[in-house]
Amino acid sequence: MSNQPLSNEPSLTAVDGPVSRAVINADRPVGTVDRNIYGHFAEHLGRCIYEGIWVGEDSDIPNTKGIRNDVLKALQGLDIPVLRWPGGCFADEYHWKDGIGPRESRKRMVNTHWGGVVENNHFGTHEFLLLCELLGCEPYINGNVGSGTVQEMQEWVEYMTFAGESPMSALRAAGGHEQPWKVRYFGVGNENWGCGGNMRPEYYADEYRRYQTYVRNYGDNKITRIACGANDFNYEWTEVLMREAASHMDALTLHYYTVPFVWSEKGSATDFDTKAWFETLRKALVMDELVGKHKTIMDKYDPAKRISLIVDEWGTWYDVEPGTNPGFLYQQNTMRDALVAAATLHIFHKHSDRVRMANIAQTVNVLQSVVLTEGERMTLTPTYHVFEMFKVHQDAELLDMAFESASYTYDGVSIPQTSVSATRGQDGTLNVSLCNLSHEGEAELSFELRGLAANDAPIGGSLLHGDALNAHNTVEQPNRVQPEPFAGAQRLEDGRIRVTLPAASVAVLRIG
Ligand code: AHR
Repeated sequence: MSNQPLSNEPSLTAVDGPVSRAVINADRPVGTVDRNIYGHFAEHLGRCIYEGIWVGEDSDIPNTKGIRNDVLKALQGLDIPVLRWPGGCFADEYHWKDGIGPRESRKRMVNTHWGGVVENNHFGTHEFLLLCELLGCEPYINGNVGSGTVQEMQEWVEYMTFAGESPMSALRAAGGHEQPWKVRYFGVGNENWGCGGNMRPEYYADEYRRYQTYVRNYGDNKITRIACGANDFNYEWTEVLMREAASHMDALTLHYYTVPFVWSEKGSATDFDTKAWFETLRKALVMDELVGKHKTIMDKYDPAKRISLIVDEWGTWYDVEPGTNPGFLYQQNTMRDALVAAATLHIFHKHSDRVRMANIAQTVNVLQSVVLTEGERMTLTPTYHVFEMFKVHQDAELLDMAFESASYTYDGVSIPQTSVSATRGQDGTLNVSLCNLSHEGEAELSFELRGLAANDAPIGGSLLHGDALNAHNTVEQPNRVQPEPFAGAQRLEDGRIRVTLPAASVAVLRIG
């Protein structure tokens, strides 16, 4: 351990041995975990917006100006810092003027990407910005490059943020919102290498430069201009965008989904074996390699790290639930997803010198959701509980840590058994989150805490684990997986802390 370079996250090479060991230097902050790493993404896809969030003012489901109260309350419990909308692939087909004005006269159109269903445009700019207000989060609007015009994008920004006299501010006032909103994050296209126009990076870089010119800062509204970045291993995209357009952007994105095996056979969200469990977690940990390599390219062009890397789509992607519309991407969510969430958030912590936002896909009823609804009922997923337990990390100081994980081996392939991250909150509390990726073995962890004023601070915490690997919540059984107080940490005589984590579990220790 002594010759290990200090690092704030487990390396992905595991060592043999039963105990994972960490030295946490509580007096050595190495950065800040940007709260936006805990961001979300809600697209006009399946039942995410419609049913999941928006039920309309006339619905029997209790709502606030059309936004369902139960989901709103649940999401408020997560302190969501930022919400991305309206897509996704939907963004490059979305024409914002279809979604303003009296709802009954808004255009009814086809959602071609997602299930071919009718999009009635009842949830538009005003409704989204109201949702953000109710959640207390920053809006991240994704503009249309693939099928939209420069003028359309320019006018959308003017509509939302310009305070003075102009055609767009007059239109906004006529729509019932006299004052401009604050919009800090604006994406110039989505997946423009694919559903956003099938562009080559050179072509998109030029288009990006042109479109972003008209994404203006009005008054004191300062926009973070976000360029569409790469899909997973497409390092060439990042290289070209940084080479050709770095000086015109504030952030570049990255998309990576955890697919257990191959896209054509992703497998079930709930009916999986231990091989699929292992493979899913192994694939989730690939995020570390991806972020690391894209960062290296960004460092070449932007050594001062002015430009943020935003992972604005991440999460698990399985086969849809039997009997549901394949275009709706509706999947259940188990302890496996909780482990993916926890390990991925730790990776973002580790890379927080460059990763300043991430948006899990997607908030409600789509892919790795935190909330699932069925008619008037809803349930919180294991992923929800991870986000709730990890809230303590938002905007906290990331602490220096040396870490060696025991290994988790399956069919001769090894990954780290454990993943750990330590931060100090503004109230001085030390929060250590940890997870045991193994499907069967308990994890033993030994922590040495250096630089603490007192070595006898009380240890509290919470634990998330299930009664089965595929344990999940349903509207009939909403509390099968939920956090409980954690009693698996004990202080040893030499001041170390010894933790025993059950198989397939996530915990947060609160020290102080
Ligand atoms: O999140 C679902 C889809 O995945 C998004 O619309 C798209 O950007 C990505 O391919």
